[in-house]
Amino acid sequence: MRSDFSLRNVVIAGNWKMNKTKAETEAFFDAVKEVEVKAGVEAIVCVPFPYLITAKRLTENTAVQIGAQTMHFEKNGAFTGEVSPVMLQDIGVTHVIIGHSERREYFNETDETVNKKVLAAHEHGLTPIVCVGETLEQRENNETLSHIEQQVSYALAGLSAEQVKQTIIAYEPIWAIGTGKTASSEDANEVCAHIRSVVSKVASSEAANEITILYGGSVNMKNIDELLATSDIDGALIGGASLEADSYKKLIEAGNRRK
Ligand code: 13P
Repeated sequence: MRSDFSLRNVVIAGNWKMNKTKAETEAFFDAVKEVEVKAGVEAIVCVPFPYLITAKRLTENTAVQIGAQTMHFEKNGAFTGEVSPVMLQDIGVTHVIIGHSERREYFNETDETVNKKVLAAHEHGLTPIVCVGETLEQRENNETLSHIEQQVSYALAGLSAEQVKQTIIAYEPIWAIGTGKTASSEDANEVCAHIRSVVSKVASSEAANEITILYGGSVNMKNIDELLATSDIDGALIGGASLEADSYKKLIEAGNRRK
């Protein structure tokens, strides 16, 4: 299946994970607030919960959007320590990462909770950035495509084709996260094209053509152009290289070049 990437935005999403202080958050957004983000490019930064309101305030009237890194699927209730989709929507957050491999590994996130969270995100007008990816062992055993197919089908179960189109999927091979090892652009593109064929099966070929698919795993300013030059990778979910304003701005410039 051939996809038409002119239909889709280029998305440059930072995932700060559990990093930065309030002062560092302020300095970062002060440095990126004037950044040029071309039409058809989206710049998103997913910050820790305590800094969401600060980040929202500092990016008012800028092209930078703010996302959270996880959430609960219930609206409210006795879930000590959790944050609900209603709360995120209430403070103007637009995106939320769901099912990051670190959440799956350390915090018991399962395909089932990922699906509940994806449904809840849509119900509350948040765009979910759903992470999928294989372990090194699965890649070596040739199980990558079947594993990704299972994670994607599970995550999207019960969504309308319209909601599927409004979902972002991030392919993040676990062995490439924070290791300095990037998947080759061919391998990453092969998996992203496979994700499109899964979306075509579970939703529609139109949804497959329109859904935004990102690559994540040791993306930096040296390798991003090559990744973005492929047919099925629409952007990147970036950890380490999104932490410094200069580096994040260079990644956005790469997104601008692609449009
Ligand atoms: P790194 O870019 O640091 O490898 O992290 C990738 C990631 O997990 C983004 O969600």
